[in-house]
Amino acid sequence: MKSKEQKAAIDQAIGRLPRLSAAAIRLLRLVQEPDHGLAEVVAIVKNDALLTSRVLMVVNSPVYGRLNKITGIDHAVSLLGEDLVVGAAMKEAAGLLLDKKLDGYAAEEGELWRHNLKTALAAKILARQTTGKVAPELAFTCGLLHDLGKAVISDYLGDNAGRIRRAVEQGKVADFLAAERVLLGIDHAEAGFTIATKWSLPVPLPEVCRFHHTPGQAPPMWRELLYIVHLADIVAMLSGVGTGADTLQYHLDRNYEAYLTLDEKGLPMVVLQVEEEFSKVAEVF
Ligand SMILES: [Fe+2]
Ligand SMILES: [Fe+2]
Repeated sequence: MKSKEQKAAIDQAIGRLPRLSAAAIRLLRLVQEPDHGLAEVVAIVKNDALLTSRVLMVVNSPVYGRLNKITGIDHAVSLLGEDLVVGAAMKEAAGLLLDKKLDGYAAEEGELWRHNLKTALAAKILARQTTGKVAPELAFTCGLLHDLGKAVISDYLGDNAGRIRRAVEQGKVADFLAAERVLLGIDHAEAGFTIATKWSLPVPLPEVCRFHHTPGQAPPMWRELLYIVHLADIVAMLSGVGTGADTLQYHLDRNYEAYLTLDEKGLPMVVLQVEEEFSKVAEVF
């Protein structure tokens, strides 16, 4: 199939995706609001039976080793915190998509979720080391959804993952993203943007999907956030949690240094911190 036909097929596949639940969208909107509180998070969770049971399932995960079962949503949300509630909501609302096996990237079931989760944790930690304009909770949510487009693009890459990786390594193509565009007429960043827009996800989530590999091209108001997610994505891959064949087959835009108060020596510390947090939360979902 030519790339033009592939792109049309991808657009159709995106159109067929099930929408997110109203509760999930409401939660994502809330995260963007600067002065929101946990009480508003509780109110959204309480209004949705599926989300309520998912949050209770997460808070009662054996990983926490709690002696008593938590049954109240107020208590559950305060124990988990906003980030993990958003994680639970995404797992509930888009789990099939975010967990799926990515044949086109040679990634097993769950790898995309783990990569997104690790990127989210790294973004939250990095947000604390910027000039301070990006809320860590917002950075977390953006990290969690940045590679949404891969879930659709994967089905159209066929068995080309190994070939693409070799072509990138031999310098025949700029990076994995460029190879996606050559083959399919669209890359996973643009596909993610289209999904986020179709799902009516609030800004800046569509922009995060679109510019996470090219943060310098993001609208100025979102550029700092985009550099955070961009670096967080690389941190996740560096610490061994990528999505298969494309791992580290992208360019690092070093202009992140203009936004983050972090030098080369600080990065290994961030990797360690992310590692520690990831080992705690990866099992609870
Ligand atoms: Fe990506
Ligand atoms: Fe990524």
